Amino acid sequence: MLWLDGAGKPAAVCDRCCHRSAQLSKGKVVEGNIRCPYHGWSFNADGVCVRVPQLEKSAIPRSYQVSAYHCQERYDYVWVCLGEPFARTLKIHYPNGLIHLIFNAVTPIDDQTSQMVQFCFRNDTEAEAKAEDVIAFDRIVTQEDQQVLETTDYDAPLSIQEEQHMPSDKPGILMRRRLAALLKEHGEVEQRRKD
Ligand code: FES
Repeated sequence: MLWLDGAGKPAAVCDRCCHRSAQLSKGKVVEGNIRCPYHGWSFNADGVCVRVPQLEKSAIPRSYQVSAYHCQERYDYVWVCLGEPFARTLKIHYPNGLIHLIFNAVTPIDDQTSQMVQFCFRNDTEAEAKAEDVIAFDRIVTQEDQQVLETTDYDAPLSIQEEQHMPSDKPGILMRRRLAALLKEHGEVEQRRKD
């Protein structure tokens, strides 16, 4: 659940009270903290319980807390990260000294679709290359790529033995390895399309 803390900054925590699992989103914000509607425990933006009406503040056990998530307001949106971002960074050094850094973060939407957000950073100045020109160029390249990428099989194998690779495929291989490690960490196995 989301709310604005005492400083007006967005805060995000799991929508379950650690006492008897009531939904915190049914509670109310008091002095920048979210107060549970059931027995009134209050949690701050870090998910730490800061008030238990039935106890002195000094007697609140440290274990009284709920999961809190990275949360920031940017570009008129609130961005919440429910775990460590599944992301990669590609850094390209050009012979003329230009460094072009491309950051990709991927979020699964369903079995066939993922949303990818891409940011680019460069070490040249606005006078050397206008940001709007760089964005326009990258957009054309991305749209060209999109047409081809959407023809590929969404059921990409995590095993790198099933397809052939070349050196520039390193970022994709890295993503597959990270995804395989993530599945293993959560005790899950890769699910392949049946047909
Ligand atoms: S369930 Fe939240 S305070 Fe009891």
